[in-house]
Amino acid sequence: MAKEIKINNKKYSTKVKAPIVEALYEAYKNPTYQFHIPGHTKGRAVYGDFKKLIGQKALNIDTTDEFDNLGTLHPATGPIKEAQELAAEAFGAKKTFFLLNGSTAGNLAIAMALTKKGDRVLVNRNCHRSILTGLIISGAEPVWICPKRIPGWSIWGSIDAEQIENELKKDNKISMVWVTNPTYEGVVSDVRSISSVCKKYGVPLVVDEAHGCLWNFNKHLPETALKLGADAVVHSLHKTGGSMSQTSMLHISKGSCLNEKSVEKALKLLHTTSPSLMLLASLDAARANLQTQSGLKQIDKAVENAKYLRKRLDNIPKLHQLKGDFGYKTDVTKVFIKIDGLSGKRLESILEIDFKIEVESASDIGVLILCNVGNKRSDFKYLADALTEIASRDYKDIYYLEKRKHMPMLEPQIVMSLRDAFYSDKETIKKQDAIGRVSAEVVAECPPGISILLPGELITEEHLPYLNDYETLEVVK
Ligand SMILES: Cc1ncc(COP(=O)(O)O)c(C=O)c1O
Repeated sequence: MAKEIKINNKKYSTKVKAPIVEALYEAYKNPTYQFHIPGHTKGRAVYGDFKKLIGQKALNIDTTDEFDNLGTLHPATGPIKEAQELAAEAFGAKKTFFLLNGSTAGNLAIAMALTKKGDRVLVNRNCHRSILTGLIISGAEPVWICPKRIPGWSIWGSIDAEQIENELKKDNKISMVWVTNPTYEGVVSDVRSISSVCKKYGVPLVVDEAHGCLWNFNKHLPETALKLGADAVVHSLHKTGGSMSQTSMLHISKGSCLNEKSVEKALKLLHTTSPSLMLLASLDAARANLQTQSGLKQIDKAVENAKYLRKRLDNIPKLHQLKGDFGYKTDVTKVFIKIDGLSGKRLESILEIDFKIEVESASDIGVLILCNVGNKRSDFKYLADALTEIASRDYKDIYYLEKRKHMPMLEPQIVMSLRDAFYSDKETIKKQDAIGRVSAEVVAECPPGISILLPGELITEEHLPYLNDYETLEVVK
């Protein structure tokens, strides 16, 4: 819906409705005498250098729910309720919850609301650690499926529907299937087929689509699980959708068999009781932006920029990029590359130190580049030039490659339940003495947040190359 708002005496057409943004702007224009939290009171009691850094305006709009007609998050009322409804419509969901504390909060809520002690949940081993935390809280047990590994890249590939079907056939106690799609590096699984298998066996499907929130807005990107039969989907809007850090969405799909009321209750328990209106407004704004012509163009540009970059990379000797040539589909905007003779970590630091380029992440093998909606074509030209120069230098750091690993790729040896191990009597011992003992903690570095070790898992020599930054480990006594 078209609407005009005035900022600094200039008129802007918002084109689409953004209820929280509009309400917050009204509150900004009509300040009250404030005798409530936050106690810095529109920035008056803020450290000067911080105020200079963040700006007076941001401090003016730093408020929480209940005040200034801005609605509440739990239960959702006023502009917040309206904004969540608009988001549901935009993403094609029945119901959408705004998340503070990222998709982590969404995964925790799903586990708390939809699984309980003793339930068996089919999960891909390369899931984010928030799913494991959720299962530790609920007491449900993960039944692991390991996707195939992509040869030469040291990363996980897609999950096959047949793998899911085999597990569901073998174990009729599995009460939920929870898959991650896409992987961090952009490998896409066939969620349509996975969803039909789940429906055949009458088991709900949850998809952690944290890295795929743009998919519903561009036909050159893969299809969202919300359209492919998943019951619930988590999106990190802050990762690629243009909202501020730590803001995400949890969607319940139109045909979902899940109990959305219990998800809402879990979120109420997990969320802060003082949600930041600024962060909620940024979610509202990101959704609105993705629906405007300029927002849609930004996604088109991101896709075009990704194609441009990939074409340039194809012409750099010694540089390889992950493509969909392993029989998988990929999200074109996530570009995973490697250069012969260089580990990913070394390449990351050369880019950073010599070229002031910061990439999304690095593994022992390669680096991950995100082609974002906010990047310009000139950014990609600069990056491609830098990579051309690096590839022409004669680097060798094989020693580094042998001693350190970053992307956990091991088959777990489970000897105790996740929750029992986490809540067991524990001791902290030197890493070298931990071989043969049972882990009592989640060891998972971010990014990618995939676990190296889980509570209840046997610690072996194979774990050591992933544990260079650890001197001690927490084990079951
Ligand atoms: C697949 C996946 N799920 C969930 C999360 C958690 O997301 P957030 O950082 O929004 O809490 C991440 C974070 O990297 C992730 O990669």
